[in-house]
Parts: sequence; structure tokens; C-alpha cells
Amino acid sequence: MATFRCVQLLVLAVTAAAQSTQVLQELSNTLLLNQLAISNVLAERDSGVRVMRQWLDELQSNITSECRRTRGQEELDSRRALECVRPFTVVHDRCIMVESKTTGNWGDMKKFCQQQGGKMVKVDTDNFMYHLVRFLHDNGLNVKNYWVGGSDEGSEGVFFWDDGTRVKMGTPFWGDGTGDQIQEPDGGATQNCIIMYKDDHYFFFDLPCHDSHGVICERM
Ligand SMILES: *[C@@H]1O[C@H](CO)[C@@H](O)[C@H](O)[C@H]1NC(C)=O
Repeated sequence: MATFRCVQLLVLAVTAAAQSTQVLQELSNTLLLNQLAISNVLAERDSGVRVMRQWLDELQSNITSECRRTRGQEELDSRRALECVRPFTVVHDRCIMVESKTTGNWGDMKKFCQQQGGKMVKVDTDNFMYHLVRFLHDNGLNVKNYWVGGSDEGSEGVFFWDDGTRVKMGTPFWGDGTGDQIQEPDGGATQNCIIMYKDDHYFFFDLPCHDSHGVICERM
């Protein structure tokens, strides 16, 4: 009888031990899961911080280079302003003179610019063209057509500036002249010189070089 009792107690003890082992196991599992969860959160936080840091680094380098660029442009502008003296005046990043009183053919007006110590203007960026046309309007100079430095004489259909670089074709430089929906230049071999054409909002237009117009000169 005593033996049976003993076995009973033993079974109880073993059961209890087994149960507490199970509890411990569950506890340890829970702890493990928590640890995993925490390390996931930490990893996420770290990668978030990394992304944020990269973004800040990039932003800083963007700001630095933007500042350098602006400073460079300001220095260039102020140097231009010093060098650019009457009858020339600074327009955007160039030194310009608009002649609306004297008119002549393309060749004559080219000489005119040279006599002023400059040459015919090269309009090769959209930004400069925008400021140049604004300058014409703001100063009441939007009364004439103006020769600019491009022509295709001797190279029919291929327009060059004075310095040998190609005139950019198409939009936003060339208009459609008389509203015929054909983009300039469309004058063929008889129209070899470029004017900025008043009646088409000062877009480029090819005209016979012997026509008489004003000119825009530029001092380099
Ligand atoms: C930095 O400049 C580049 C190029 O302009 C741009 O793509 C990028 O979004 C800029 N980064 C920031 C953080 O502003």
C-alpha cells in the first residue's frame, strides 16, 4: 500500500515537473518571439535612420552645389556689369545693344555691330531669348525687326552663327512667320539671313539678306 502511495506521489511530481517544464518552455518561446520582434523593430529603425541620413547627405550636397553655382553666376554677372558699358547693356547673361534707328542689310548691320566693338548677337539659349524679347518690350524697342548673327549663305539649309556653331532649329527659336503653319525657315535659297520677327513675337524668320532692318549686337 505504501508503495502504491509512493508511486502515486511520484507520478504527481513528474506530472508537475512536466507541466512546469512546459510552462518554462512557453515562457522561453515567448521571450524568443519578443526578442525577434524587438530586433526587427531595431533593424527597421536602423534602416530608417540610414535612409534618412543618406537623404540628408544628398540634400546637403545639393544645397552646397546650388550655392556654388549661384555664387559663380553672381560673380559672372557682376564682372559682366563692369565690362558692359554704354551703348551696350546687360540682358540676362549677355552684353547687348539693340539698334532700332539705323537700319540696313544683313552685311551692313554686321559691320555696324563691329564698329560698336561687338558683333551680331548669337541667340542660342531659350532663356536668353526670353529675356531678350522681354527687354525689347520693356524698353519700347518692339517696333522693328532685328537682324541676328545667323545665316545659311553658302550652306543652303544649314544655318550657322558667326563663330561657326550651328543655329538650333525648331522650337522654341523658330516661329511660323506669317501664320501659314509651316515652321520657319521656309524661304529656301532666296532667304538666307535670320531676323527676329516683330509680327511673329520675335521668333526667328529667314529673310533675304539684302532687306533693310535694325540689328541686335552683342559684346563678348
Ligand atoms: C538632389 O539633386 C538631384 C538632381 O537634381 C535630385 O534628383 C535629388 O532629388 C536631389 N535630392 C534632394 C534630397 O533634394
